[in-house]
Amino acid sequence: TMIWTAALLMMVVSYADSGEDPYAWGDMFSSCHPLLEEHHSPINIDHRMTRNDSLGSLHLDGFDVVQTGHWTVENDGHSVVLQVSSGMSVSGGGLPDVYHTVQVHFHWGGPATNGSEHTVDKRRYPMEMHIVNLRSIYPNLTTALNDPLGLAVLGFFIDVVYADNVYFGHISQKLSSVAYKGQTTKIKPFPLISLLPQHNMSQYYRYYGSLTTPPCSQAVVWTLYEVPIYISWSQLAQFTSQIFSTEEDAEQVTPLQNNFRHIHPTFSRVISASKDAKLLTGTASHPLRLSATVLLLQIVLLRGFISSL
Ligand SMILES: *[C@@H]1O[C@H](CO)[C@@H](O)[C@H](O)[C@H]1NC(C)=O
Ligand SMILES: *[C@@H]1O[C@H](CO)[C@@H](O)[C@H](O)[C@H]1NC(C)=O
Ligand SMILES: *[C@@H]1O[C@H](CO)[C@@H](O)[C@H](O)[C@H]1NC(C)=O
Ligand SMILES: *[C@@H]1O[C@H](CO)[C@@H](O)[C@H](O)[C@H]1NC(C)=O
Ligand SMILES: [Zn+2]
Repeated sequence: TMIWTAALLMMVVSYADSGEDPYAWGDMFSSCHPLLEEHHSPINIDHRMTRNDSLGSLHLDGFDVVQTGHWTVENDGHSVVLQVSSGMSVSGGGLPDVYHTVQVHFHWGGPATNGSEHTVDKRRYPMEMHIVNLRSIYPNLTTALNDPLGLAVLGFFIDVVYADNVYFGHISQKLSSVAYKGQTTKIKPFPLISLLPQHNMSQYYRYYGSLTTPPCSQAVVWTLYEVPIYISWSQLAQFTSQIFSTEEDAEQVTPLQNNFRHIHPTFSRVISASKDAKLLTGTASHPLRLSATVLLLQIVLLRGFISSL
């Protein structure tokens, strides 16, 4: 974990200068330039998916027990990061190996805008949570980034309802202690599974992509869960208006908002749906609607063309 933290720290420090604008990251990290046929994240998810019946639930080892020691919550100026102790790992569900869980972090928007990284049919959810797992054959992040399968990130959309989420409260209650960049606080470990949509863990999408922060390495097996985590409006507001990207003694205080990267093309990538995923069935009529629009457009253009003769 120390090594991981050091590696992460180096990355964070080195991209501080290119600012919060993801479009500018390429100036400092050429690997953040999304060239043709490169496999970047995030992406938009739509009905164009391929069902893969061999994709069942992942095995989440140690997620259902209270880990020993303590965890740390940190404001690194780009996100709120929960550094977990060793003892948890993920495997199965088509992953090629065992991956050790190293940290959990969040992406969000602003008081009036949504901030998930991935979108579903162009819709952005209020937040997105990432559980980052490092392929067990690697000692640290730096080595894993050269492997297209080096990291497995589990992505969860976060949506809002009227009730507080008690388990999410374990994290959101600690936010006031990490309001400013560089602040950390300890947190008592809790079963990580309690945060997750436990009845719907077999419903997910799978694709191969990248980190969504510099150096944007194309090293991530993505598992995006279909069913969101639900939190309350006030829990959401603790992220969108009470976290700052600046240090406590900074002359000008800047709220940390909209910390998501823009959507990237899928190019020739296949997006798989797990055996139990519902495949966005509510939107299955889109291709039809689209072709009807195209047909209408053709008729209109043709009529315009004919009348211009
Ligand atoms: C990562 O591991 C490799 C191989 O063991 C080592 O050479 C390198 O120094 C490590 N990097 C960090 C940042 O610890
Ligand atoms: C389905 O998923 C398995 C596990 O990831 C993979 O080996 C296989 O190639 C996939 N099948 C198709 C048709 O994509
Ligand atoms: C933002 O999230 C809210 C709550 O889930 C949703 O009702 C709204 O449609 C989303 N807005 C956009 C632009 O995606
Ligand atoms: C979640 O799982 C339950 C139990 O399998 C199922 O009845 C429900 O439809 C699922 N929810 C969604 C939104 O797919
Ligand atoms: Zn992330």
